Amino acid sequence: MAEQNKLEKIVALCKRRGFVFPGSEIYGGLASTYDYGPLGVELKNNIKRSWWKYFVQDRIDMTGIDGGIILSPKLWEASGHVANFKDPLVECKKCHHRFRPDKLKDTSKCPDCGGEFTEAKMFSGLFETTIGATEEGLVTYLRPETAGAIFANYKNVLDSTNLKIPFGIGQVGKAFRNEITTGNFIFRTLEFEQAEIEYFISPDSDWSSIFEKWLEYIYGFADLIGLPRKQFFNNEIPDKERAFYSKRTIDIEYQFPFGQDELWAIAYRTDYDLSRHQEASGTNLEYFDDTTGKRFIPHVIEPTFGIDRTFLAVLSEAYDDNDGERTVLRLSPRLAPFKVAIFPLLKNKPELVEKARSVYNELKKHFNVVWDDRGNIGKRYFSQDEIGTPYCVTVDFDTLGESDSDKKDTVTIRDRDTMKQERIAISDLKAFIQKSLE
Ligand code: GAP
Repeated sequence: MAEQNKLEKIVALCKRRGFVFPGSEIYGGLASTYDYGPLGVELKNNIKRSWWKYFVQDRIDMTGIDGGIILSPKLWEASGHVANFKDPLVECKKCHHRFRPDKLKDTSKCPDCGGEFTEAKMFSGLFETTIGATEEGLVTYLRPETAGAIFANYKNVLDSTNLKIPFGIGQVGKAFRNEITTGNFIFRTLEFEQAEIEYFISPDSDWSSIFEKWLEYIYGFADLIGLPRKQFFNNEIPDKERAFYSKRTIDIEYQFPFGQDELWAIAYRTDYDLSRHQEASGTNLEYFDDTTGKRFIPHVIEPTFGIDRTFLAVLSEAYDDNDGERTVLRLSPRLAPFKVAIFPLLKNKPELVEKARSVYNELKKHFNVVWDDRGNIGKRYFSQDEIGTPYCVTVDFDTLGESDSDKKDTVTIRDRDTMKQERIAISDLKAFIQKSLE
């Protein structure tokens, strides 16, 4: 499958089956915005849940917050975003398409129509908004990253928990950037979700080994959600391209269908953030180490993740159209929107439907389950494979014990990947499915 073609097929599947829809479509669309549909919201929530469990709940040294999208503008001034979160922009004088010159291969002419460019101007990536009913309201910004609220609450978290350095705070939520370069589906959008960690360490600690451990832990997450390590590339950002305060930054790149690009990142940001916030806010953000009696501004290691990009990577990896024969999303069961589909063999036999309903109602208490009684069984398998449902359960006449009493209260369970069917007792279904989610 040609890779660009693969992206087009994924986009089409997302629309057709309700994973992702183009934003504001009935009004002609709004570039670089998307809405997640009934299956997309399930997959995305499962990614976020897996992230939260792995990075926050499973670690003794981590906790989480859910900070605001609208924060004081002073915070974004202190962080440097107001002054520096800007990209150069050129506009084609003929077709008026806009580009970031630093992302163009040839800056002498417009790649869309060959027209001449305007001079480059700096363009802020912040979305401005005004608080208050009057025109002189307070101007602030929709957060361009989730990290800000973590720094702003670092002291509150310390004071309200028994955590001690080293410890980290994780957060998942929306971020907003007025992006110039767009395209490649949900890879770069105006509104997206991030999952970020600020890991606070002592200035005396061996930051390099803590950094390495985090990097390896991040790859454990890739394993967990079914992204093979061979698809990744660690792009070490050289000294001259790194932010001046960062001693090491790696862009964790991934081989997307449209090419290799940043999926996640990790940076050692020294004490830059908390020092800036201490200075600008006038609030003492020092940490008191009660074992050494020392006070210091903690340094931070920041692993950062884009949830939408992770969603796209997961879909790209799972998508298999078997050379056009049958599309299967080979999602890990943990991430699949539905864990199991329940079918009555025939929909016009009330006794089959009633029995299948009872299986559906029982499993629904434990998993996200889907009911399907349309068409024939083959079509239902086809339909469930396309959305990645790992198991399909069929209730047939044997389940009712009509011809063979040994098979009473057993069903066939069919595996998405092997396409093999086996007969199991209804009472064993829950444990069988549960096992695949471990
Ligand atoms: N606090 C650090 C930070 O925000 P970043 O590399 O600018 O770093 C982190 O963003 C992650 O957020 C990226 O690795 C990417 O996954 C995601 N991301 C950034 N801009 C995005 C956009 N416009 N659309 C979708 N995801 C985006």
